[in-house]
Amino acid sequence: MAGRDMIVEVDLGRRCYPIRIGPNAADGVLETARYLARENRRSAFIVDKGFAATQAEFLQSLQAVGQVLLLPAGEKTKSLSRLSEIYDFLTGHNFDRSCCLFAVGGGVIGDISGFAAASYMRGIDYYQVPTTLLSMVDSSVGGKTGINLPAGKNLVGAFLQPKAVFSSTRFLETLPRRVFNCGIAEIIKHGLLGDAHLFERLENLDNLHAGHV
Ligand SMILES: NC(=O)c1ccc[n+]([C@@H]2O[C@H](COP(=O)([O-])OP(=O)(O)OC[C@H]3O[C@@H](n4cnc5c(N)ncnc54)[C@H](O)[C@@H]3O)[C@@H](O)[C@H]2O)c1
Repeated sequence: MAGRDMIVEVDLGRRCYPIRIGPNAADGVLETARYLARENRRSAFIVDKGFAATQAEFLQSLQAVGQVLLLPAGEKTKSLSRLSEIYDFLTGHNFDRSCCLFAVGGGVIGDISGFAAASYMRGIDYYQVPTTLLSMVDSSVGGKTGINLPAGKNLVGAFLQPKAVFSSTRFLETLPRRVFNCGIAEIIKHGLLGDAHLFERLENLDNLHAGHV
């Protein structure tokens, strides 16, 4: 696909990490898993079922480079029982401390997989592969992970920075309009709260005014 990816470095000293953004960012996921395999490190992919249904080819590529666990779409997935399912999946495949976990989906999968990575064997490396606009601009960056409890949202969690983030703009092509607009709303909010230049750029986007997004 045309266009080049860009790399944004998140500067956090020892915990700094790159965000690769663009049409070919998904290639980076496969390249990373192959690189890890050469280092004798195995890859586990936690993948949103709704996303997988629209990206069958990418799903097959993931299955060729690691073990895949599909989880149902939706907020209910951020639960203790699904977290336990991830642990069972990891132990069932004999994943040890050297393995790496990839969160492939929106904020739901990113949050629960990040928390699984933060807690499995007291912490393993993980990568974010956000597939919704909201998860690309917000939840995949910053290291906040967690799940919900019956008493409320995000009540259990941990901070863990990913080793890298791969934001493939190609994934946005299959995103339902409503889900895409949640991400746009987050970008507008960010502009309103503290980035006048961003807000001005958004105001000058014809599509936003015409209601095309
Ligand atoms: N950790 C953080 O800093 C942070 C910040 C903001 C929000 N969040 C969390 O993020 C979650 C919401 O995330 P979200 O808005 O990404 O929603 P989501 O993860 O629930 O995904 C929304 C829907 O989009 C579908 N989908 C995902 N990618 C797709 C694709 N490329 N093509 C087609 N369908 C696709 C999914 O199957 C799902 O039905 C909430 O749980 C919220 O608490 C976390």
